[in-house]
Amino acid sequence: MSSATAPVEHLPRTGNYRWVQLWGIPLRVMHWAAAISIVVLAVTGLYIGKPYFMTSGEASSHFLMGWMRLLHFIAAGILVMTAIVRIYWLFAGNRYERWTALIPWHPRDIRNFFRQARAYLLVRPEEAPRYLGHNPLQQLSYTGLYALALLQAITGFALYGQYDSTSFFFRLLNWIGPLLGGMPNVRFVHHVLTWAFIIYIPIHVYMSIRADVLDRNSTISSIVSGGRMVRADEAFEDD
Ligand code: HEM
Repeated sequence: MSSATAPVEHLPRTGNYRWVQLWGIPLRVMHWAAAISIVVLAVTGLYIGKPYFMTSGEASSHFLMGWMRLLHFIAAGILVMTAIVRIYWLFAGNRYERWTALIPWHPRDIRNFFRQARAYLLVRPEEAPRYLGHNPLQQLSYTGLYALALLQAITGFALYGQYDSTSFFFRLLNWIGPLLGGMPNVRFVHHVLTWAFIIYIPIHVYMSIRADVLDRNSTISSIVSGGRMVRADEAFEDD
């Protein structure tokens, strides 16, 4: 067995460790800004769809829906800004952050995709290929999440444009309604995609904690500090 698939029980608690820089400041800042804005969008969006705390009386006396919509639109703006940073960083970031690290296009990554899937399915973490950055399944899952966010933004701005048929967003995205069979369907898609986010978030958090515990290589703190401590004698697929 190569050292790139070293069993977890062979990962000692003490020894020679080296620091590997993975995530630059723009990526870490956009990660947390996107995380917060997605939570705000989900909470305020579900409220807009079904106002669960609606107080009685005239709207002018509480304006709760107005605040929820304002928060939704501010968070949407922040999410779009994080997307711009991420797109720029796909070309300006280091090799763990570039587009090549987000799509398993390399023959090595395609092979490791199946090894990683097998290791997850059979719960054999010691057989998983060792990556410093994203393993091929993570690569696909993050690309999928970005695609989801894109669809959510397109349907969201199509809904937003409806307030005025001369507005920029109306003119830009008014083809979405006819494409999906009417604006109620656009709203429905926007609502259903929200649940995809709500399902994704706990899985993402669980997988991060799991990797941190099983690999003993500070996965979670890497998205705060920017890097990992890994064993100096351990080989990685993407080193
Ligand atoms: C990224 C850009 C986004 C934009 C521009 C946007 C915009 C909008 C707009 C205009 C509405 C309708 C508001 C109204 O009728 O007053 C809406 C509703 C909603 N949004 Fe967003 N949104 C975005 C992202 C998100 C995200 C990421 C989520 C969830 C994680 C989300 C969840 C929802 C939900 C659940 C509704 C209510 C749908 C329903 O009526 O059932 N939105 N959004």
